[in-house]
Parts: sequence; structure tokens; C-alpha cells
Amino acid sequence: MSNHVRIVEVGPRDGLQNEKTLLAAAVKIELINRLSDTGLATIEATSFVSPKWVPQLADAAEVFTAIRKAPGVVYPVLVPNLQGYERAREVGATEVAVFTAASEAFNQKNINASIDESIERFVPVLERACADGVAVRGYVSTVLGCPYQGDVPVADVVRVAKRLHALGCHEISLGDTIGVGTPARARAMLRAVASEVPMAALAVHFHDTYGQALANILACLEEGVRVVDSAVSGTGGCPYAKGATGNVASEDVVYMLHGMGMTTGVDLDRLVQTGAWLAEQLGKETASRVTRARTAA
Ligand code: HMG
Ligand code: MG
Repeated sequence: MSNHVRIVEVGPRDGLQNEKTLLAAAVKIELINRLSDTGLATIEATSFVSPKWVPQLADAAEVFTAIRKAPGVVYPVLVPNLQGYERAREVGATEVAVFTAASEAFNQKNINASIDESIERFVPVLERACADGVAVRGYVSTVLGCPYQGDVPVADVVRVAKRLHALGCHEISLGDTIGVGTPARARAMLRAVASEVPMAALAVHFHDTYGQALANILACLEEGVRVVDSAVSGTGGCPYAKGATGNVASEDVVYMLHGMGMTTGVDLDRLVQTGAWLAEQLGKETASRVTRARTAA
């Protein structure tokens, strides 16, 4: 089994979308440019959703246009529908991500649609993307629990993941949106999905609300997953997921992986510097334990 893990850095999108203080586009652009110099291969840059729903990312077109596109780095963006896809394409996005959930209640709050309705909206996005040679990632949220519905049956996660894959999504990211999962459940969920969708097409996406994210990632690595989503400085959360805190910090994931002898291609020192810089911009202490330890006075 490969020793290499691809980190999908979601800080500029998942990390910032829940920040109440509006950040200047210039700060977001600098963040992405700094991340591009760390060796990360995938940086989710922004979101072409409704600006009424997520005001922080209303500047998506400006940010995407201005960032330096480093060779060998891909900059996917989130799109909820064809309108978002068209906005993303106007500024030259070459990879997009669609998103739905395993829980009906969460989907209604997040994108004002049932699971079926959301997938109907994705059909024309995938058709256009296929014609345009644009790769599409698919997110499934609430895979280990929903803030509105509570428990989410594993069978529902499997069904939605399978549908997104059959629709043409090249990678399915399984999201513990509110960070309630624990390792044995994370492992069982991943194993069930991997019985229907190839492991090579799966990624895991943990929020760290209950401090379980690294343990969950380790369990999923042991199952064979090799793509892990995380956010520099552990920022983030979904504005439509009550009580959810940030993603697991990229610095902490990279530290753990390197400590296990796995490769990521990421320069941890540069990532830590970027995490510390972002925390300063946001005026809050970093949520990354590694960045705290490395930058302590
Ligand atoms: P709606 O209000 O039902 O949409 O929202 P609508 O189609 O009825 O349109 C209403 C208005 O929105 C119209 O404008 C449209 O033009 C506009 P008006 O005529 O009123 O001026 N509109 C758009 N504008 C710009 N870009 C667009 C777009 N689409 C419609 N793409 C909608 C439905 C999906 C648009 C809305 O609910 C939405 O944008 N939701 C996004 C919520 C979001 O971004 N949540 C966070 C991301 S998901 C997440 O964080 C989880 C994840 O990290 C994984 C995990 O952790 O589990 C991925
Ligand atoms: Mg998320």
C-alpha cells in the first residue's frame, strides 16, 4: 500500500466560510499564495455559492482570478449548482466540487434542497464538466452524525456516495461535518463505503469538534484511505451546521503522517508559518497544536 498521502487543503474555503469577520480579498489571496509554496498539491480556493448564504466568500471570482496558479497545484472550488459552475468557469476553474449530505435535514438547512433535488442539480454540472474536461469532486456531509437528525445510518452514506460516484465524481470526500465521530465508527463507515466505491476514489474530511479527528484519520489510513482533507490552523466550520468547529489542522495531520514515515510532499515549517500568519490575520489563537508548539515564545 502506498506511503503517500495527498492532503486536500480546504482552509481558504471551509476554513474561512464560517468566519464572522469579513476578510479582505487580499488576505485570502496571500493565504492561498503562501499555501502554494508549502508543497500542497490540492488547495480548495473558494466557493461559488450564493453570496446571500455565505457572505464571506462573495469575492470568489476576485480571489480565484488573482491567485498565483503554481505549476503542479490544483485549485478546486465549491459549486452548488449550474450557476455556480458557470461563475467558476468564467474565471478559469479547472476542478470543482459539488456537495450534498447523507442527512435530509442537514441538506435542507445547507442548500435548501432534498438529497434527490441536490443530485438533480448536479446532473447538468457533471454533464458540462465532462464536456469541458473539468474534474468534479463530490462531498457527502454528516457521515457520522447530523446536528438536526442525530444518528445517520451508514447505509445512507453508502447510497449517497455511490450515487455521486456513478454520476461521474472522480473523488468522494466523506465529511464528519460536526466532528462527532470516533475511530471505530469512522472505520466501519469507510469500510462500508469502500465496499461500493473504490478506496482510491475516497477521501476523508474530519472536523475536530470533539478532538477525535486525528484518531479518526489514523483509523481510516489503516483501512487504506490516502486522501485527507484538512485546514491550515484548524480554522473553519459550516455556517449551517450548529455547533461545528474547524477542520482538523493541516499542520497536525502532516506532523502525524511524517511521524509515521508517510510522505505528503508538504514542508511542515512553511505550513506552520502560514498557519501562524493566518491566526494573526484572524486575530485568534491557532487551533493547530503543532503550530502552537512550534511558535511558542
Ligand atoms: P436558494 O435560495 O434555494 O437558491 O439557495 P435559488 O436557486 O432559489 O436562488 C436564490 C438566489 O440565489 C437567486 O438570486 C440566485 O440567482 C442566487 P436572486 O434572484 O434572489 O437575486 N444563486 C446564486 N448566486 C450565486 N452563485 C450561485 C447561486 N445559486 C443561486 N451558485 C443555494 C440554494 C444552493 C444557492 C444556497 O443554499 C447556497 O448557496 N448554499 C451554500 C451553503 C454553503 O456554502 N454551505 C457551506 C458549504 S458545505 C460544507 O461546508 C460541508 C463540507 O465542508 C463537507 C463537510 O464538512 O461535511 C463540504
Ligand atoms: Mg467541512
